[in-house]
Amino acid sequence: MLKVEGLTVRAGTVELVSDVSFGIAPGERVGLIGESGSGKSLTALSLMGLLPEGVTASGRARLGERDLVGVPESRMKRLRGGELSMVFQEPMTALNPLMRIGAQVAEVLTLHGRPRQEARERSVELLERVRLPGPAQIARAYPHQLSGGQRQRVMLAIALANGPGLLICDEPTTALDVTVQKQMLGLIAEVAPALLFITHDLAVVASLCERVLVMYGGRVVESGPLREVFTRPRHRYTQGLLAASRLTPRGTRLPIIPGAVPAAGHFPGGCVFRDRCPHATPACATTPALTGDGHAHACWHPAD
Ligand SMILES: Nc1ncnc2c1ncn2[C@@H]1O[C@H](COP(=O)(O)OP(=O)(O)OP(=O)(O)O)[C@@H](O)[C@H]1O
Ligand SMILES: [Mg+2]
Repeated sequence: MLKVEGLTVRAGTVELVSDVSFGIAPGERVGLIGESGSGKSLTALSLMGLLPEGVTASGRARLGERDLVGVPESRMKRLRGGELSMVFQEPMTALNPLMRIGAQVAEVLTLHGRPRQEARERSVELLERVRLPGPAQIARAYPHQLSGGQRQRVMLAIALANGPGLLICDEPTTALDVTVQKQMLGLIAEVAPALLFITHDLAVVASLCERVLVMYGGRVVESGPLREVFTRPRHRYTQGLLAASRLTPRGTRLPIIPGAVPAAGHFPGGCVFRDRCPHATPACATTPALTGDGHAHACWHPAD
């Protein structure tokens, strides 16, 4: 379905994402995790052709037969909201405050060639599909009249409107309270064709995804089946990340990864994690490749 090979994202000469490769099979749900600043959002945005001004992507990414990198904006416009959709963290900034909900859902349908009347009817069906109560009333409402959870469901309806092959979600539930978050995740699991799900929250990934990619310093440092990676992490960064998120008994010290994530462009050469890694040796000055099929890691001194 999706095949990414050697994706690299730069702002000027600074590499923000380096040589990222992964695939997503039809129907597969893949989690993308890693600390703040690891390059998760830029990876997703480069697939959508939505990188900020001055930031460029190179490498290859294909969705089915279609290229996603280095493609003219006119072609990406047809893909976005069509075969490829994304749900962002903050629905209030993504919705137009002056337009009724129904019109905003209908717009993405007419943009992709549906007749207006059909689009209007279909938009109510879509609001129903994301389990909004009273979809006809919701269609007539403005964004400010909805709760955060309802707005996020509207964003999901818009993302699903044209039957995308792949749905990308970037922290879609972070701003929601826990119960609403649970419902939203259940809904995403149910409706997503294939899913790339970005989050900090390892518990969310564990409940939603079959496979996981761990990013650090703009690189994928480990990838594999969720259970494998979470129970037998090989990369020292993944180990630290899991340990730091685990609930520890009262009175024991929370294990943490020493140091802080450097700013973009300030990661060490070779293994990007080596200046924070308790196991680093001079060998780590050479960049480790992501190796191993199935459960892969990019580390010279993996656990196991
Ligand atoms: N427009 C830009 N110009 C320069 N650097 C940028 C730009 N956008 C992001 N960066 C840098 O690229 C790195 C990766 O950013 P990205 O937003 O992909 O991280 P992230 O993994 O999504 O983090 P978070 O979990 O906080 O959302 C960061 O160091 C960020 O500061
Ligand atoms: Mg992000």
